[in-house]
Amino acid sequence: MTERHASRLAAAKGTVPPEPREVPRHVACVMDGNGRWAARRSLPRTSGHRAAETTVIDVIEAARAAGVGWLSLFAFSTENWRRPDTEIEFLMHLVRRVVRKHAPLLHARGIRCRFLGMTDPRIPPGLARDIADLMTLTGKNRQMTLTVAFDHGGRRDIVEAARSLIRSGVPSEAVTEESFAAHLPFPDTPDVDLVIRTSGEQRISNFMLWQVAYAEWVFPPALWPDFRAPDFLECLHTYRQRERRFGGVLPNQNGETRS
Ligand code: IPE
Ligand code: IPE
Ligand code: MG
Repeated sequence: MTERHASRLAAAKGTVPPEPREVPRHVACVMDGNGRWAARRSLPRTSGHRAAETTVIDVIEAARAAGVGWLSLFAFSTENWRRPDTEIEFLMHLVRRVVRKHAPLLHARGIRCRFLGMTDPRIPPGLARDIADLMTLTGKNRQMTLTVAFDHGGRRDIVEAARSLIRSGVPSEAVTEESFAAHLPFPDTPDVDLVIRTSGEQRISNFMLWQVAYAEWVFPPALWPDFRAPDFLECLHTYRQRERRFGGVLPNQNGETRS
């Protein structure tokens, strides 16, 4: 049970005042629909990726202003290596340009930037260097943590955690959800509260599989390059309407449990 769930249950029992329906602590976005955005304009898919930059900055600013503490953006999956070489190359250049261009703004906003994944040798060394520099520059910031999932695969993270656990010599009886999670990359990352997948697609696509176990999901129809701060805020509003039970039951206002 998470701290938040425990406190909601306690609030429902009347032991503490009910907490305000807060903003999600950790929001994760599957930034989908760039190719379709371009196709609708008879443009190459790469134009859709280029147009995505504005949305990325808009969403980062909106999340920070709303008080979201952790924002994760899915930018490139381990499966995206199946795309044409020209598209992959474009994405690598684009991400490098975006990282270099926006590093001062991210730092000025107090945002700690992390990249999750980044293990494939096909990642250009120049990009890896710029990302390492951004992580160092912003490493002490605490206003918000931005995790960019890049060359990320949820299954790979789980397999790597299992390997790391075995290497550490932990006896099997000592393996718990907590000790296992401690071997995932960035183990201080809290569970995802809300996943937003744009473009209407309703799939997980191997994204942060461990961390999304009890996330709420919303599927706005907007394609990622058309998605803007008001759309993001609407997703936060939708989240506030959800009743999160984490498998338990919340007593209703009369103190009776629901069937
Ligand atoms: C998401 O947009 C961006 C990446 C996966 C890099 P897509 O490129 O998947 O766009 P669609 O789904 O083809 O429209
Ligand atoms: C998921 O989108 C990956 C990213 C947004 C980076 P995809 O467009 O690659 O996923 P599928 O192929 O529709 O599952
Ligand atoms: Mg897609």
